[in-house]
Parts: sequence; C-alpha cells; structure tokens
Amino acid sequence: MDDMLKAIETSTRLTSSYTAVDEISRTVLAAIAQVDRSEFVPERSLNRAFENHPLRIGHGQTISQPFIVALMTHLIDSQPGDRILEIGTGSGYQAAIAAELVTHVYSIEIVPELARSAERRLKSLGYTNVSIRTGDGWYGWPEEAPFDGILVTAVASSVPLQLLSQLANGGKLVMPLGDADGDQELAVVTRDSAGELSTRNVLPVRFVPMTGEGILTLRE
Ligand SMILES: C[S@@+](CC[C@H](N)C(=O)[O-])C[C@H]1O[C@@H](n2cnc3c(N)ncnc32)[C@H](O)[C@@H]1O
Repeated sequence: MDDMLKAIETSTRLTSSYTAVDEISRTVLAAIAQVDRSEFVPERSLNRAFENHPLRIGHGQTISQPFIVALMTHLIDSQPGDRILEIGTGSGYQAAIAAELVTHVYSIEIVPELARSAERRLKSLGYTNVSIRTGDGWYGWPEEAPFDGILVTAVASSVPLQLLSQLANGGKLVMPLGDADGDQELAVVTRDSAGELSTRNVLPVRFVPMTGEGILTLRE
C-alpha cells in the first residue's frame, strides 16, 4: 500500500504541468489508504493489487489505475455531506473510495454480473452508504438527482445531457471525453452557483468505452 501511495504522489508530480494539481488532497489520500485494493481485484491479480496500473476484472472491463482514481476523486472536490453519482461501478473500488468521503454514493453499472459482484463485495466490506443499480448510466439516476458530484469511469465523445441536468449548482462532473481507440482527455465540467457550465481538459487518458447509449457517440 505504501508503494502505491508513493506511486500516486510520483504520477501527480509528473503530470502536474497538465493537470495543475500539485498534490492530491490529504483527505483523498487518506481514503485511498483506508481501502484495500486487493479486495477488488481478481484472485489471479492479487500479487499486482497495489501496482499503479489498471487491471482486468473480467467482462472486458478494468479496475482503473490508482493514480487516476485519486485524481478523479481529488478533482470532484467533494464535501462530507455530498451525494455522488458514479457511472461505471466495475469492481466497486472507486465507489468505496468515494464512500469514505461523502454521505452517499449512487453507482450504475451496465454489466449485471459486475453490478451484482460489486454490490456483494461492498456489503461484505461494511459499506452501507453505496447504492448500486444495473443499467445504462447514460440516463443517470433521476429519482435521486441532483448530485453534488458525478464521476464517469468510461469514455464517451460528449457529456450525456441527462447527467448534466442531474448535476447540482456548485457541483463538478469528471469524465473522460474522446474516441474509443484514439485521443481521450479527462475533463472537469463545473456548474457554478448560477448554473453556468464551464469545462477544463485536465489530462490525456485511456479508458474503456461507455457502452449502451454512449457507444453511439463513439468512433472506433
Ligand atoms: C474503467 S471501468 C470502471 C472502474 C470502476 N470504477 C472501478 O473502480 O473498478 C468502466 C466501467 O464502466 C462500465 N460501463 C460502460 N458503459 C456504461 C454505461 N453506459 N452505463 C454504466 N456503466 C457502464 C463498464 O462495464 C465498466 O465496468
């Protein structure tokens, strides 16, 4: 775990000229230190659980690189009372980190088997503040909107309008934008207190594509 935290610090330093993030916040690093990544990776990858790399979790999907999880969690700039929406539950790792920091995490996963196993895993680890739903995250979770922050962990060519409409004033949406197999940028969309939107590109990244409605927006 210590090596993973050191690798996150190194990646943060090496990318700071792009991201304008010199340090990941202490609260985010504390949350990462609190969550055992080995609980979220398949048995065959246990020896690599604390490496700063994405790992395969089955169904053609991945658990994201720890540095990217740290950066996205930092960029969403959450407060303890927040309610966060995540699109792309995958293993449940990012949801667990967010759950350490906010009041409630709502997470949507399109692959039913991944949604079910993440739900079981988070329950057995004692998380009572994460709700998981199987479905197409393109449409968000309107019954629980608005959200103080939205994390999307799969790439689309544009931000789904339904997600923007579910972002509270003062909230941030963090997601990769671009092509499935081409250029992708991690972007932060901020909705200010008057409801005005602004977007900042933060870092070139590589994410799996958003499927469901989102795949229609992507060029292979
Ligand atoms: C990079 S993985 C997510 C990693 C995950 N956050 C974690 O911590 O393990 C992206 C996930 O997004 C899911 N996904 C892709 N398109 C989706 C959609 N339209 N709605 C919901 N989930 C989607 C994939 O099935 C995959 O599990």
